[in-house]
Amino acid sequence: MPHENYPLVAVVAMARNRVIGDGEKLLWHLPGDLKRVKMMTMGRPMIMGRRTYESIGRPLPGRANIVLTSRRDYRPDGVMIAHDPETALAMAAEWISGKNDRIGEIIIFGGGEIYRAFLDRTDRVELTEVDLAPEGSATFPGLEDDQWQSEEAEVIAASGDAPGHAFLTLNRR
Ligand SMILES: NC(=O)c1ccc[n+]([C@@H]2O[C@H](COP(=O)([O-])OP(=O)(O)OC[C@H]3O[C@@H](n4cnc5c(N)ncnc54)[C@H](OP(=O)(O)O)[C@@H]3O)[C@@H](O)[C@H]2O)c1
Repeated sequence: MPHENYPLVAVVAMARNRVIGDGEKLLWHLPGDLKRVKMMTMGRPMIMGRRTYESIGRPLPGRANIVLTSRRDYRPDGVMIAHDPETALAMAAEWISGKNDRIGEIIIFGGGEIYRAFLDRTDRVELTEVDLAPEGSATFPGLEDDQWQSEEAEVIAASGDAPGHAFLTLNRR
């Protein structure tokens, strides 16, 4: 099946200033968000940038880990390597069709460069808005308000070390 038929879903946690990380790691610890990310990505292929893969440091189980890099000699165990976005999408589609318990959605897993590379064809954004404004080099791209419809958010108050945050689903109009 051509990948055009599978929706592209960006899963991201972003601060008020659009920062998502510093290029090496996340800038907050939100266990509830990690659980939500797991639920939204299980059984699906995930496309991520080489820096994001290295920040995680291992393939995430139960999902295809497709890593985009320009490095021809980059071959960590347990991941699929793509050197351009089209190839990554084709690998994702092939993985979905490889077994019938796989879910027909392609996850755009970040970071900033990868969200940008796929933004024009992203169908849905599963967004966690984090009530912080940290400094960081990696950002989520701006979304035109008139192109995205936001569904009601679940708001979680700050507690202990965890900042307040809200879960939103944005569908392309
Ligand atoms: N908050 C969140 O939800 C979230 C999610 C994911 C990541 N993050 C954070 O985001 C930061 C990383 O983001 P980032 O923007 O710095 O890097 P990134 O998008 O994770 O990775 C960038 C790398 O991907 C490869 N790449 C990008 N476009 C490519 C293309 N068209 N073809 C082939 N390879 C391509 C290049 O790898 P090579 O240099 O190897 O060529 C590039 O250096 C980290 O701090 C991470 O923790 C946050």
